Amino acid sequence: MESPLRRLYRRASVYYDVLDWPLERFRYGRIRRELWSGLRGRILDLGAGTGRNVPHYPAAADVVAADASPEMLERARARVAAENRGGRIVLTDALALDFQDGEFDACVSTFLFCVLPDEVQERALREVMRVLRPGGTLYLLEYVYSRVWWRRLWMRVLAPGVEALYGARFDRDTRTHLLDAGFSLTEERYVHADIILKLVARKEQPLAR
Ligand SMILES: C[S@@+](CC[C@H](N)C(=O)[O-])C[C@H]1O[C@@H](n2cnc3c(N)ncnc32)[C@H](O)[C@@H]1O
Repeated sequence: MESPLRRLYRRASVYYDVLDWPLERFRYGRIRRELWSGLRGRILDLGAGTGRNVPHYPAAADVVAADASPEMLERARARVAAENRGGRIVLTDALALDFQDGEFDACVSTFLFCVLPDEVQERALREVMRVLRPGGTLYLLEYVYSRVWWRRLWMRVLAPGVEALYGARFDRDTRTHLLDAGFSLTEERYVHADIILKLVARKEQPLAR
């Protein structure tokens, strides 16, 4: 049976790029550029959506764009072709990734975990852990509630609309799920005001005997 998120993103694929255009232009562009710069090796772009990260894929990287929504990926495919970036497109669920153990050097996931319900986040993160090689790195961008009262209030006003349009929430506890899944947090930093958080986590290498 089709999941509620899958159904939501069939609809969202129609308006995603249009509604996000101002944010993409004035907020996300710089953040995505910085996030991807210098990454190399085999990289999983998880929850790739319409392919907003595609223009930032480094030439030195071999990137696989994966998502559970065929309609979102159709737009990513067009973007990959337009940008002439290479990049393989794979339809797969973050909760049961269709990849081999240790296949990737890094995983980048932008605004997927504010969409995934808390109950399934640890499962998805364990899947990411499985497909990363030992020493591999996970890079996340997520929205969180501001600690500034007036900004937080504004986010509370927007929250029902954001959840209806994108299934996204500002109160996911991704940091805790990362630690519960066994990742080591190596960086935690706001990249836009105090509402977009960058989390970088590592899959530790097994200790040598
Ligand atoms: C808010 S969009 C983010 C898209 C893109 N990463 C970006 O930065 O614009 C969330 C994406 O996660 C995808 N998604 C939701 N649940 C998923 C799951 N269980 N497995 C894989 N992708 C999923 C949706 O289809 C959607 O494309």
